[in-house]
Order: sequence, then structure tokens, then C-alpha cells
Amino acid sequence: MKKTTPFIVGNWKLNPLTQKAAAELAAGVARRHKKTEAPYIAIAPSAVHMSEVSKKIKNSTVMLAAQSISFYDGGAHTGEESVGQVKDLGSEFIIVGHSERRAGGVTDEDVNRKVAKILRTNLVPIVCIGERKRDEQGAFFTFVEEQLRSLAEQLSAASMKKIVIAYEPIWAIGTGKTATAEDVKEMQLFIESVLTKLYNRPTARSVRLLYGGSVKPHNAKELHADGGMNGFLVGGASLKAEDFIAIARATE
Ligand code: 13P
Repeated sequence: MKKTTPFIVGNWKLNPLTQKAAAELAAGVARRHKKTEAPYIAIAPSAVHMSEVSKKIKNSTVMLAAQSISFYDGGAHTGEESVGQVKDLGSEFIIVGHSERRAGGVTDEDVNRKVAKILRTNLVPIVCIGERKRDEQGAFFTFVEEQLRSLAEQLSAASMKKIVIAYEPIWAIGTGKTATAEDVKEMQLFIESVLTKLYNRPTARSVRLLYGGSVKPHNAKELHADGGMNGFLVGGASLKAEDFIAIARATE
């Protein structure tokens, strides 16, 4: 995947209710995203809808992502899905460390174990980072830096280049309070400078960065043009095919 081509990922979270609705939504995205059209697009349905969604996007350029995976490859682990299972259904990307899962107890260490497992399977982890709130002193920068340091502890430069980092400030998720394009730009530069310190400049510049948090059709163009990231991780607005595609088109 060329980093200069934006990457738009729809995280459906625990939606929609029925398999039929999931199939319709997937078909709607696939129909609207014509074969040769940039940007890259992936959708992350809930695990129970993956198989149905996979069928609907099979003949399109829309790619499949998983919202989470287990540490384990198989065995007595009730309620989990393995990397192998989501790969078998056609998933190429796996979201790791989403704040909604971190809130449920997922730690930086868990994130690292999952990232290593995903890379071993030749899939692409989309690692979510981001602060809970902003403060006047800028302590949130330290928080984001710590998340990056923890991630980098286990990863060679070659591995780091293979992952996608999604900056999703928690205060902007599902709240309608988007970070401004200036906030996003500032964070893009900050993340690159931290990665430069931890690795080197070529590595920092080759990691794909996404922004997530209340991205909507009306703000996508500015966030993309001025935010300096390489795509979006979209929640709520990915549940309507027209809105999701409008966001994707805003990056063209
Ligand atoms: P919203 O776009 O609904 O704010 O969700 C963002 C998100 O959490 C994507 O992973």
C-alpha cells in the first residue's frame, strides 16, 4: 500500500443489529467504491458479521478488518477470536488497543503481544493510541509518547514500518468534538518526532498515521488537507455507506 494514498477504515463497533443490515451496509460501501478509485478502504464489522460482509465485498476493492483478536491461537478460550480465524475470513487488518477495549482492561503489554502475533501472521495491526483528555500543560503529549515508547520496546524498525498507528483522542470519540485540523497536524508532527527519536527519520516517515474521533463528511476535507495524517479511522459515520464514502472522497 502506498502511503501517499489515504487509507480510510470504518470501525462498525457493536453495530448493526442484524446480519441483513450488515450485509446491506457492506454491499452499499462496495457498490460506491469503484474498483480503481483511491483511497484504500477497509471495514471492520463485528466478528459475527464478518463472514457475511466478506462475501459482499469479495468482488470489490474494499478490504476487511477485524476489531480485535485474542492472544491465543486456539483452545479453551471462551468468547475469543484468533488471528487465524479472522485471517481465514479474509481479514487483512486488525485493530488493536482501541480505547474502548483499553477501558475494558487491555493494557500496553497486551497490545504488544497482539501486535507481535498479528505481524507473525503477516496481517497489519492498526494500533490505537490517544489521550483521555487535554490539559493546558500539555501532559497529554507525554501520555502519547509513553504509548509509543511502549509499542516501540518490542518492535524493530522493520516491524514498526509495517504497522498503522491510529491517533484517536478519547475525548473526540463519539462525542462530536473533533480535534481541529491544527491539533491533528501538531500531533502528526509530534508522533513523527517521537518515532524519529526511537528509531530514525526514514522509519518515522514511513509509518502510516490515521486520525480518528468524530470524523464526518463535513469535516473530513479540512482534517485531511490540513491535518497531515494518512487517512481516518471512522466510527459512527461508517454506519451509513453514503457518509463513509463521502469521507473517503473528501481525501481525494
Ligand atoms: P467516532 O467516529 O464515532 O467518533 O468513533 C471513532 C472511533 O472510535 C473509531 O475507531
